[in-house]
Amino acid sequence: MEFSIKSGSPEKQRTACVVVGVFESRKPSLPAELLDNAAHGYLSDLLRRGDMEGKAGSTLLLHKVPGTEAERILLVGLGKEREFRENEYRAAITTTVRTLNETGGFDGTIYLTELPVKKRDVAWRVRQAVLVAEETLYRFDQMKSKKDEVRRPLRKLTFCVERRTELAAAEQALAEAQAISVSMNFMKNLANLPGNICTPTYLADQARALASEHGLLAEILDRAAMEKLGMHSLLAVAKGSHQPPQFIVVKYQGGKADEKPIVLVGKGVTFDTGGISLKPAPEMDEMKYDMSGAASVLAAIKAAALMKLPLNIIAVVPTVENMPGGAATRPGDIVTSMSGQTIEILNTDAEGRLILCDALTYAERFEPDCVVDVATLTGACVIALGGVVSGLLANNDGLARELLDAGHASWDRAWQMPLLDDYQEQLKSNFADMGNIGGRAAGTITAACFLSRFTKKYNWAHLDIAGTAWKSGKDKGSTGRPVPLLTHFLLARAGEKIAAGKSALAGRQ
Ligand code: BES
Ligand code: MN
Ligand code: ZN
Repeated sequence: MEFSIKSGSPEKQRTACVVVGVFESRKPSLPAELLDNAAHGYLSDLLRRGDMEGKAGSTLLLHKVPGTEAERILLVGLGKEREFRENEYRAAITTTVRTLNETGGFDGTIYLTELPVKKRDVAWRVRQAVLVAEETLYRFDQMKSKKDEVRRPLRKLTFCVERRTELAAAEQALAEAQAISVSMNFMKNLANLPGNICTPTYLADQARALASEHGLLAEILDRAAMEKLGMHSLLAVAKGSHQPPQFIVVKYQGGKADEKPIVLVGKGVTFDTGGISLKPAPEMDEMKYDMSGAASVLAAIKAAALMKLPLNIIAVVPTVENMPGGAATRPGDIVTSMSGQTIEILNTDAEGRLILCDALTYAERFEPDCVVDVATLTGACVIALGGVVSGLLANNDGLARELLDAGHASWDRAWQMPLLDDYQEQLKSNFADMGNIGGRAAGTITAACFLSRFTKKYNWAHLDIAGTAWKSGKDKGSTGRPVPLLTHFLLARAGEKIAAGKSALAGRQ
């Protein structure tokens, strides 16, 4: 999709369709009033007669309205003005884009970006409009032999801003959002691919391709290299599979050579059967999404490269397939992790933490500024938080705050859970330094407690995206989360650096 930004009156737009909002009950938004004035009350007549109440989700398409230049006008219901907030704004954009895509015009000029949303500026409204538009139009049809073709698909969307002084901020927001949505689609495509195609080897190939496309450095460690490093916890998970494990490292150098990197670690279980602790059959297909953490960190580094952020970032992706089989790890097996700590694998389905712990130990060698891991780690997180917010746990409150803020800014929200020492007890093992499960109580927290034993040397945060990375049911598919959160975290870090650079300059003058 092609996007652009504009400022100008709605009645003068020569476009296939101008889109304006109507609040409930029958209250035109400001741009709708402008159109109405130019059309000598055509719209207000129509509202008075009851053709459009303004209920959220409703639309009314008008053709060749007198006094206006566009071929069509689309009225979009916004619901009650008092209740018009982030979710309502996003829903209005979804309705708009879906309707435009079905009405046969090639382009649309959208005035909804001028609507006030409490505490959100024009940059936010433009960014969200782009993300929601791309989300609405995304299709995963790579695996279909016949693709559904839209007869006259939408090609171009123009978002309007009220004042010319807002143009620069809106353009900047548009560029950021395009980088984010390209990267989200990259994540979604990887995550939606089935386990027979998206294997650890496939992910490694994708990482190499990503690196060559954006001038990044990719390094892939094979089984022998991992054995040498002593990653026996990770390797224990790969033992039941015919697919070889891969350890992917991708580096983006946008900052100075000596600047400490931000390390993003992503769980890359390309299919999680549970192993010998086999999962029940219903919905097991969804375990192809168990590499969403991996896909999201690769996507985040892609977004950073597209935006040329002045940061050093390293994505670390341990990737394996978790299968049962004659060579598979048994419940009760004890392995020595790369850190030297021993682990009793009481449940082979708690495999995410087993591959992440070795990746977290490996991350020490980068002397990171901070490490953020992203994982579809626990079913307990789906129970606790559902699909609304990601679970966040951290050993550093400043880092946690930054991620919470990034989630709020990008509307890809997270919620912090307590990483208290009191929970560590649940990981006690009679036979090794720790077990890999902590019982049913507080499953998301005990999983994070397990990881925290491998992250003592740096500031670390963990995002459990088991509930937010994909949708089940009829809209089954990857959501592209938490790419917006991660990207905003990086953007904020980059913004701080630029601001600090400027004030240092100012100080010198
Ligand atoms: N990949 C799953 C977590 C998961 C489950 C994500 C359901 C999304 C939906 C993870 O590897 C897993 O199986 N976790 C176990 C841990 C348990 C054995 C301690 C779980 O949550 O049941
Ligand atoms: Mn599992
Ligand atoms: Zn898993």
